[in-house]
Amino acid sequence: MSVERTGALALVGPGRAGTTITAALVEQGWRVVAVAGRSPDAPSTLAAGQRFDAPAVVVELAARDADLVIVATPDGAIDEAAGMLAQSVRPDALVIHLSGARGLDALSAVPARTAALHILQTFPSPEEGRARLAGSWCAVAGDPQVRVLAELLGLSTIEVGDADRVRYHAAACIASNHLVALLDQVQRVAPIPLEALLPLVRATVENVATLGPAAALTGPVARGDVETVTGHLAVLSGDDRDAYRAFARIAFRISGRADAELEALLR
Ligand SMILES: NC(=O)c1ccc[n+]([C@@H]2O[C@H](COP(=O)([O-])OP(=O)(O)OC[C@H]3O[C@@H](n4cnc5c(N)ncnc54)[C@H](OP(=O)(O)O)[C@@H]3O)[C@@H](O)[C@H]2O)c1
Repeated sequence: MSVERTGALALVGPGRAGTTITAALVEQGWRVVAVAGRSPDAPSTLAAGQRFDAPAVVVELAARDADLVIVATPDGAIDEAAGMLAQSVRPDALVIHLSGARGLDALSAVPARTAALHILQTFPSPEEGRARLAGSWCAVAGDPQVRVLAELLGLSTIEVGDADRVRYHAAACIASNHLVALLDQVQRVAPIPLEALLPLVRATVENVATLGPAAALTGPVARGDVETVTGHLAVLSGDDRDAYRAFARIAFRISGRADAELEALLR
């Protein structure tokens, strides 16, 4: 049977992302026929087996009865899991992984149809993840049936092939992880509560969404205010000063200003 809108699925790597997606597909009529993790008695494997009322098995046997196999292990374990799945996977099954950093090559050991489905969202837990799925975007590659799964999950899709994978994932990390690092920096630079700045942060993101980065840019670099930028650099040190200068250079470029004094200050 080929993967259509419903069928039997096996979950390999029953952590935050895998459990989130499996729970969403179960709501759409999918049946979980096997769960496999580090071992059949690993706590996350047992918990998922109970949650989905499915047997906890070893990875080698997980794909036996599955139309769809979701490999949701940490990125470094995908190739190994793919090799193990080769023992039980059916040639007409679809095997997908959820990694942003890895391409389709991670599943090359699988003698079946393969695809990648990376959701541009953060899943701290299956419960929070479930609420965030609908309306998010995902990068897909490989077998076209992966688009059917994305649609079932309420996701918008972009196609990202192996050649663009690393750049794509770097962009996703900057959008999420570096934003966290920036907000941590904010807390260290001045003794004001983070919550006082969050409405500003949210409004800025909204401005970028509606106007684009160039029109959303305000502040001293956009205004060419050399004196203010000099003052900021004087009170910062170490990584905070380096980061300020690097981002101010990007802001300067976005602003389109031709201001030699400001450019020299930021160099
Ligand atoms: N979480 C997110 O926000 C998010 C978002 C988008 C994409 N993803 C992608 O989703 C994938 C999983 O990430 P995650 O955050 O869900 O990780 P996670 O919560 O750590 O879950 C990983 C699961 O895989 C199991 N596992 C570890 N090594 C294994 C192995 N060798 N064989 C079989 N199972 C193994 C773990 O078992 P133990 O519990 O015993 O360690 C755990 O159940 C990654 O490719 C990640 O890039 C995650």
